[in-house]
Amino acid sequence: MSQRSVPFGKSFREIHFKELDPEYLAVNHGAYGMTPSLVFKKFKEVMEDDYSNPDYFRRVEQPAIYVETLKELSTVLNTDYRNLALVDNSTSGINTVLRSYPFKKGDKIVAPSTVFNNCEKTIEFLQDRYGIIYESVELNYPLEDSEILALFEDILQKGDVKLALFDTVISTPAVRFPFEKMVKLCQSFSVLSFIDGAHSAGLLPIDLDEIQPDFYVSNLHKWFFVPRNSAILYVSKKNHRKIHTMPIVSSYVGDETEVSAEEENNWLIDRFADVSTKNFAAAASIRTAIKFRQEQCGGEESIRNYCYDLARKASELVSNKWGTSVLENEVRSLTTAMFNVEVPLEQLGLNVDDYKENANELYFSMHKGKRVVVPLFIHNNKVYGRFSAQIYNELDDYDKASDIVYQLFVNIARKKAQKQF
Ligand SMILES: Cc1ncc(COP(=O)(O)O)c(C=O)c1O
Repeated sequence: MSQRSVPFGKSFREIHFKELDPEYLAVNHGAYGMTPSLVFKKFKEVMEDDYSNPDYFRRVEQPAIYVETLKELSTVLNTDYRNLALVDNSTSGINTVLRSYPFKKGDKIVAPSTVFNNCEKTIEFLQDRYGIIYESVELNYPLEDSEILALFEDILQKGDVKLALFDTVISTPAVRFPFEKMVKLCQSFSVLSFIDGAHSAGLLPIDLDEIQPDFYVSNLHKWFFVPRNSAILYVSKKNHRKIHTMPIVSSYVGDETEVSAEEENNWLIDRFADVSTKNFAAAASIRTAIKFRQEQCGGEESIRNYCYDLARKASELVSNKWGTSVLENEVRSLTTAMFNVEVPLEQLGLNVDDYKENANELYFSMHKGKRVVVPLFIHNNKVYGRFSAQIYNELDDYDKASDIVYQLFVNIARKKAQKQF
């Protein structure tokens, strides 16, 4: 770990996130991530390298970069690099596992009701196509971790669940899920555990050898600063042979095929290193992102400390301004570098139906203004705004962003009052 020369916040943004529009209040990092200029430069160089001689790049450079990248990522996630595979994004990682695991008709998959919509649709597809049974566990936050685990225990102890899919940090509401304890719970009932860690690498400390899930995926293009699109899939050793690439390509061999001991060890790499022709520039920038995080940011802990601390302060600021509360539980385990603040509907003479009616207009106004986007969502009969904290942010970003969002709701309230008049 090295010392940082530039303090986090506005100066860091000016020097290291030059691509960001200076007028843009970037408080929505959790949606699409952002890439530091140094990593983006690498991304463009790789594109030029590839396009200058694709035969050489794809046949000689790419396979070597692939393995070296897995080796470096394995130290970040603490697991054998041969348990890892680079994939395009979390959704494709989740589809890779769920659509190749040899489920049988009647196998049950459970997931919280807050699971990301792409994941839910993938399970619905398995249900429609293969007769998988999907059980959704209703979660209404704020909840204590112990309450969530008890809800799942009730279901798992019935003995008919094959796999549980759950998040590290949920998208909406953006709350930390007790994924480490959920894996242990799954193990105690011999249920396969699959962690959707779309929001994890770069946001949370992840030790896969310690957590021991069956499957895990993390985006690298969100919190790890890699350009889109980039994600990492982990498959535990005992499941290597059950997971095939998506799409199926020439590296396919059947689950039972006999191979040498060395090939067995390299099973995932041999399958996933070249999944048809695609742009490899983001994958080839991962090592630069790792270096940037260590050398320019002072390491993972330093990044987390800044972002979590800023999120706490900013959540207090916004909730005080809006006169509402932050979505938190008693032990305050929900907030990471993302936080959710209730929108003051009641104070403005609005209700959830008014929000639903005007949701499109609200987003249109935000996008049209091009200054700020705060994802808004309904959870447990309340409307929340989701904010992200990143090393290029400072407290006044949230001050300004929350004012803009508040004003949009004031406009809706005015419109409603005029209609009633
Ligand atoms: C919890 C969660 N899972 C999965 C995804 C899908 O990620 P991607 O669009 O990169 O596949 C997201 C995206 O925001 C997410 O928040």
